[in-house]
Amino acid sequence: MLKTGFIGAGTTGTALAVGLSQKKWPVVAVFSRTLSSAQKLARLAPDCQICDTAQELVDIADLVFITTPDDVIAQVCHEVQWRGNQSVVHCSGAHSVDILEPAREHGATVGSFHPLQTFASVDQATQNLPGSTFALEAEEPLLSTLKQLAILLRGTWVKLKPGDKVLYHAAAVFACNYLVTLVKLALDLWQDFGVSPKEATRALLPLLQGTVNNISDIGLPGCLTGPVARGDLDTVERHLDALQAKDPSLLTIYKVLGLQAIPIALAKGKVNEQKAEEMKALLGHPEFFARCHSEGADRPNNLTQGTLRQAPKGRRDSSPRQIGAQNDRRGVRTTEKEIRNESYAEK
Ligand SMILES: NC(=O)c1ccc[n+]([C@@H]2O[C@H](COP(=O)([O-])OP(=O)(O)OC[C@H]3O[C@@H](n4cnc5c(N)ncnc54)[C@H](OP(=O)(O)O)[C@@H]3O)[C@@H](O)[C@H]2O)c1
Repeated sequence: MLKTGFIGAGTTGTALAVGLSQKKWPVVAVFSRTLSSAQKLARLAPDCQICDTAQELVDIADLVFITTPDDVIAQVCHEVQWRGNQSVVHCSGAHSVDILEPAREHGATVGSFHPLQTFASVDQATQNLPGSTFALEAEEPLLSTLKQLAILLRGTWVKLKPGDKVLYHAAAVFACNYLVTLVKLALDLWQDFGVSPKEATRALLPLLQGTVNNISDIGLPGCLTGPVARGDLDTVERHLDALQAKDPSLLTIYKVLGLQAIPIALAKGKVNEQKAEEMKALLGHPEFFARCHSEGADRPNNLTQGTLRQAPKGRRDSSPRQIGAQNDRRGVRTTEKEIRNESYAEK
């Protein structure tokens, strides 16, 4: 077993060090920018020595994890003298092993070991680690060691090819960070009902947990529910009108995600091709978003304007659904319903 050290005693470094130490993997050394962080890790991982410098740690350990923030990894790697018979690993999801080039130049073997997990605190990270997938980048024999570590931590692993990392990390951002962002948008809408963010969070959490359970138990596409999955055009239209009145930037997000939900609904089989086309017409065609982007649109409403350019000239909105009225470049006001009718007429 390789004597292992950690440079960077933050959330990830500490959770990994503690997890490995509990499995009797020799975690022998830690160095961190702040002594108190290193002390905290050392308290949780018996037999772990606190080093005064990164170089001292590198001189002791055979396998070195650089668990600093991403922006510091290359600098830390550059500042120490590596040996030919040692391995250096970072835990970044965004960077490939290339940022460890200074170590490779000294003959060290380099790799990356990214836990596909969200760590907000050491305690929570320690709890969440088991069951996680670790994305590995390394050549043998380091690759086999990293697989062994993933299994020791009660996780599984996936090997990434050079060049895979960026899209891999973008996928993680969708599934984790942007899920949080969507919840924040939902909470903001709840502020209209006079409910505190804390109460709103409590109300939405069972929905979120139920959704995750359904993804796990039923899987895609069967776990998709809601108006797009059912083909409820009127409900979607009412959402569009209300969001337009509330905040047009939310309307844009709703439409983009709604369009992405249509193929899932089709695959689930609860809507047919015709209903899917109607839903697409209501939510707007993807080409329309691309066109608005290429036109250099900087205001959320420009997306709406792109659609409205297709509306008959001189149309005035006299329908009772004034709440969803939008302005096109000529100042003509048109509702989502009219846009939808216009899209039908084009076919
Ligand atoms: N958090 C997550 O959800 C997560 C998930 C997967 C992967 N990762 C990856 O794990 C790595 C660490 O992220 P993290 O979230 O654990 O960060 P973090 O909690 O901020 O911890 C980073 C630690 O590095 C230490 N540090 C900073 N600069 C240093 C330097 N020049 N020399 C030595 N130590 C230094 C910090 O110092 P002090 O405390 O000593 O001041 C801090 O404790 C990153 O590559 C990240 O991409 C994070």
